[in-house]
Amino acid sequence: MLSFDGTLRIKVYERNLIDCLGFNVELFGQTNGWRIYVGESRNGAVIHDTESGHLVIAGATTFGKSNF
Ligand SMILES: Nc1ncnc2c1ncn2[C@@H]1O[C@H](COP(=O)(O)OP(=O)(O)OP(=O)(O)O)[C@@H](O)[C@H]1O
Ligand SMILES: [Mg+2]
Repeated sequence: MLSFDGTLRIKVYERNLIDCLGFNVELFGQTNGWRIYVGESRNGAVIHDTESGHLVIAGATTFGKSNF
């Protein structure tokens, strides 16, 4: 990975990216209180508030539900 903050930094990783991140309740708990920007609707920004819990994804065919 390359980055530049006045100095060119090159990171070399010893491990590959993992294929699958298993569900981890402890890790998931750290997202309590996050407000996640989802996108734009005709009524303005759509924000998912993890504190309130649930999010339903619905939309027209091929408009990006699975990718999201
Ligand atoms: N934000 C985006 N910007 C541009 N292209 C996108 C975006 N989101 C999805 N796409 C592209 O649109 C196509 C359809 O996306 P996706 O399969 O996520 O839609 P879907 O709503 O799940 O469709 P379906 O209703 O058929 O299940 C894909 O080719 C995808 O790469
Ligand atoms: Mg889909």
